[in-house]
Amino acid sequence: MSNENIKKQYNLKIKELDKHNKLYYNDSKPIISDSKYDKLKNEILDLEKKHKFLRNKKSPSKKVGYKSSKSFEKYLHKVPMLSLSNAFNEEDLKNFEKKIVNFLNKNLRFDYSVEPKIDGISASLTYKNKKLTYGVSRGDGKVGEIITENLKTIKDIPQIINYPNFPDEIEIRGEVFIKKNDFLKFQNDFANPRNAASGTLRQKDPNETKKIPLNFIAYTFGYVKNNPFKFQSDYLNELKNWGFKINKNNRLLPNIKELVKFHKKFEDTRFDLDYDVDGLVYKINDLELQNRLGFTSNAPRWAIAHKFSADSATTKILNIEIQVGRTGALTPVAKVEPVNIGGVVVSNVTLHNEDEIVRKDIRVEDVVKIERAGDVIPHVIAVDKSKRNKNLDRFIFPTKCPSCGSDTFKEYNEITKKYDAVRRCNNDGYGCERIAIEKMKHFISKEALNIEGFGKKVVEKFWNLKLIKKPQDIFNLNFKRIENQEGWGKLSVSNLKNSIENSKKVSLKRFIYSLGIRHIGIENSKLISENIKNISNLIIIIKKKKFEKFLNIDGIGETQIKSLKNFFSIQSNINIVEELNSILKIQSEEVNKNGIFRNKKFMFTGKLNGLSRAEAKSLIEKNSGVTLSNVGKNLDYLIAGDKPTKRKIDQARSLGIKIISQEELIKLLN
Ligand code: IVH
Repeated sequence: MSNENIKKQYNLKIKELDKHNKLYYNDSKPIISDSKYDKLKNEILDLEKKHKFLRNKKSPSKKVGYKSSKSFEKYLHKVPMLSLSNAFNEEDLKNFEKKIVNFLNKNLRFDYSVEPKIDGISASLTYKNKKLTYGVSRGDGKVGEIITENLKTIKDIPQIINYPNFPDEIEIRGEVFIKKNDFLKFQNDFANPRNAASGTLRQKDPNETKKIPLNFIAYTFGYVKNNPFKFQSDYLNELKNWGFKINKNNRLLPNIKELVKFHKKFEDTRFDLDYDVDGLVYKINDLELQNRLGFTSNAPRWAIAHKFSADSATTKILNIEIQVGRTGALTPVAKVEPVNIGGVVVSNVTLHNEDEIVRKDIRVEDVVKIERAGDVIPHVIAVDKSKRNKNLDRFIFPTKCPSCGSDTFKEYNEITKKYDAVRRCNNDGYGCERIAIEKMKHFISKEALNIEGFGKKVVEKFWNLKLIKKPQDIFNLNFKRIENQEGWGKLSVSNLKNSIENSKKVSLKRFIYSLGIRHIGIENSKLISENIKNISNLIIIIKKKKFEKFLNIDGIGETQIKSLKNFFSIQSNINIVEELNSILKIQSEEVNKNGIFRNKKFMFTGKLNGLSRAEAKSLIEKNSGVTLSNVGKNLDYLIAGDKPTKRKIDQARSLGIKIISQEELIKLLN
């Protein structure tokens, strides 16, 4: 047989094996017996043994398992697994601390628990009666996947804990990672150590997970029954006693000055470590304070990740493309000669905006130094002008939208008296192809409708097939047509149908966010949804254009109001909201309705003592109460602090509303 024929035969077998891998690992529907599968695999290995030229990356000898499985059982985290906000310098840290002090409204002294931020995959381990009962991945932070058996293959994870006073139920959280040295053996299978850890954890067969030496370092907890701990540092020590690994480089430090000093020192030596770290995590050590500070919608107020500065490399700009984003922003992206930065191959680099190109005078064919930090998109630090070819032309930024040809504009900021650095497409949204596609991607994204199996690529594909033009089209898809597309079949279409159906039940917060209104991110959507309660109220406000009402909400300002007005000045956006409302089941925000302040309305006047308004408000809301910003007859309590506004006190008196002090409020709570 000629080499060509041998290769053909080999490729056919590989294709066949791939098909069965997918059926087994991804779809859980094997159609051949294990022995037939093994036979096929051995035939491939035999061919490779006889004909060395066949060996390649696709070989089953090189591959570990198959692509990760999509079908793990889901698990609702008792306490969400959130992410961390980032700090890049001392300024950011000072701001972080300032916000804490403002929130607690007192100059308290507190220590920081300092922990290296390992760049791996977080996992949550639930122990009930000293036994590991659930091992779960982070997932989207709210719902994870049950990967207990895979986690059990990790030697650092104890399955039974024999220690007196170990809590009856505790969720121990930490990072799963692969050591740099161990990763060397699997370089052909995964792009970087982090991917190796995540791919390995998502194998259907725990024996596949076992093939790769994973490690686990514990650093926090989720739900704990009768939590006995007062300090994070105590908890970390106890973890060690229980038999978990904790990081040897953990520290307890008293202030920002010391944090910065330690960060500098640690950054220089981090390459000597046997695992990837991308920064340090600082947590307020006092758990009582952590509890008071609580969370914003995706990160705790009491912790921050102080990232290490980035790795850099030199490369050449091949071309500059203009991408149009969801809000019409024209973002220049440089296509560069691929370079490896810290284990990741970079071929796209953001140039941010028009002003940045002018400021740095970036031109096509320039040699540039680029930088990449953690999950931040790589960017240009400087152009090496000594290497510039004399006759390179300046880059001319387009004045028309490259997608729809509309005029573009730069916004004028009344407050700073400056034009925005970003140029935007003038189109009102769904009339510009790229904006429309990006809006749809936002609509299906995790924090919005979160339609499983309906990713960004699917949006592009369905758009090209003219199956979707507006978000509501998603709920009226031609499934017959989809079934006939390459890569789709009965099973995947039926899964898609289900996940679309499931996504119809959506909270008001996610719904507002899903509309993709500029300046209305998830946090502001939450504030608005808590304020207006239900979709009918929202529609009334939209129709009457009474957005000023939202100025009463702490956190919503003129910028957001202006953006809402702009968005809803377009009739098609109002139509979208109404049509979606008739399709979806938009639910008012789940709040604890049964707290002691159920149906009670509060308002503040004057300065509180040792507690900020924000914290007092969050205390009231935690107990099902509501805070208002105007005195009216429906108010139940006016909380009067130092130097209250006389007019408010008088109004409350005349309406017979109870006026209470801060101490009385705390008493009510107790
Ligand atoms: S605490 C709510 N501690 O960083 C607090 N996280 O961006 C978040 N991570 O998903 C978790 N080292 O995967 C915490 N010592 C540490 C950590 C750590 C690494 C990861 C973790 C998390 C991500 C947050």
